[in-house]
Amino acid sequence: MRALTWHGTHDVRVDTVDDPEIVNPRDAIIKITSTAICGSDLHLYDGVIPGCKPGDILGHEFMGEVVETGPKSTLQKGQRVVVPFTISCGGCFHCKVEQFSACENSNPAEKQDMSAVLYGQPMAGLFGYSHLTGGYSGGQAEYVRVPFSDIGPIVVPDHLDDDKVLFLSDILPTGWMAAENADIQPDDTVAVWGCGPVGLFAIQSALAMGAAKVIAIDHFPHRLELARSLGAETINFRESHVLDALMEMSGGIGVDAVIDAVGMEAHGFAFDNMMEVAKQKIGIGADRAHVLRQAIMAVRFGGKVSIPGVYGGLTDKFPTGALMEKGIQIKSGQTHVQKYTKPLLEKIENGSFDTTFLISHRLPLEDAARGYKCFKEEQDSWTKVILKPGMAA
Ligand SMILES: NC(=O)c1ccc[n+]([C@@H]2O[C@H](COP(=O)([O-])OP(=O)(O)OC[C@H]3O[C@@H](n4cnc5c(N)ncnc54)[C@H](O)[C@@H]3O)[C@@H](O)[C@H]2O)c1
Ligand SMILES: [Zn+2]
Ligand SMILES: [Zn+2]
Repeated sequence: MRALTWHGTHDVRVDTVDDPEIVNPRDAIIKITSTAICGSDLHLYDGVIPGCKPGDILGHEFMGEVVETGPKSTLQKGQRVVVPFTISCGGCFHCKVEQFSACENSNPAEKQDMSAVLYGQPMAGLFGYSHLTGGYSGGQAEYVRVPFSDIGPIVVPDHLDDDKVLFLSDILPTGWMAAENADIQPDDTVAVWGCGPVGLFAIQSALAMGAAKVIAIDHFPHRLELARSLGAETINFRESHVLDALMEMSGGIGVDAVIDAVGMEAHGFAFDNMMEVAKQKIGIGADRAHVLRQAIMAVRFGGKVSIPGVYGGLTDKFPTGALMEKGIQIKSGQTHVQKYTKPLLEKIENGSFDTTFLISHRLPLEDAARGYKCFKEEQDSWTKVILKPGMAA
């Protein structure tokens, strides 16, 4: 089959690779109809997440048709499914309390050491996201093997086309969980850093949860425009002093809740960011925490911090003083996708959530390398790229 494979920093290629096969009784094989490139994939593309090996198949946002099932899969051939990016067994302690992205059984034992050293305990398995998270082949391919197919995939009705439901695999639940983690109360002013797909869905979710005001921060005009179209007020960080603007917009006490939908590759020429860009390049201290620092400074005393943006390693000059003295709450994590797919599918079906407004490009799988390059280098206009293995090149 054809698949998008990683070969090094800024080097991804569509290659011919072996077809996936059923390995375990609960597996299913899915023929991919749509698969998206995520901001998280850029961290692999940029080489700032450890553990990728040449030839690894990327991609964790995908859907398609069931073409083969193991004897213990509950799926049936021909069903149309969206697959969560988190691989979860459904039976361990964390899965039982719906913390699916912390599954103890999905990252094979021989792959657990790296994340156990970095995080204290091993990570769960994720599709197409390095050997840190299990080394699973991803879904930017014609076919993919889905382990625990009785737990993760959600069957979607035929009348909803791929564009409407694909994002149940990651960014829609991620935006929703980001807002849920901000514990939004009806009078809250919420600031969201990053108007990429995750930030945009976080804005949409925060407003749906009743936030009085959402302030979106980015520097790309079109992305800021998309945020305004959802009902957010905006700050362009290249034009305004973010902390001063947020103080003014929150009655002088700081915002009630902050959402970091940027993560470890912040843009901008702030001094701390410039230092960390340099450190990231030479591999000392992996994370650029500029946005997280700014968010912690911007939140009011007693406020709430939500971190959907991905960080991978360590960072310097973290504001521990502000963190402690302000009495704030922090919630974070890879999304517990399986917890949210059903309620969010209902919102898509009843028309209360549009998920298509941010799609900018649909490309054949053969064009995936160009998709990565443009999503990275022309972020303003390339807001979300969907790859279609079935589309003629
Ligand atoms: N927690 C999860 O499960 C999960 C799931 C999906 C994505 N993510 C993460 O969420 C983050 C966003 O994903 P995305 O797909 O929206 O990515 P993206 O790269 O498309 O968007 C990031 C946005 O952040 C903006 N930005 C950069 N520096 C900024 C700054 N200093 N201030 C304000 N905005 C700034 C960029 O201009 C860009 O628009 C990534 O870190 C990604 O890895 C996490
Ligand atoms: Zn993603
Ligand atoms: Zn589990």
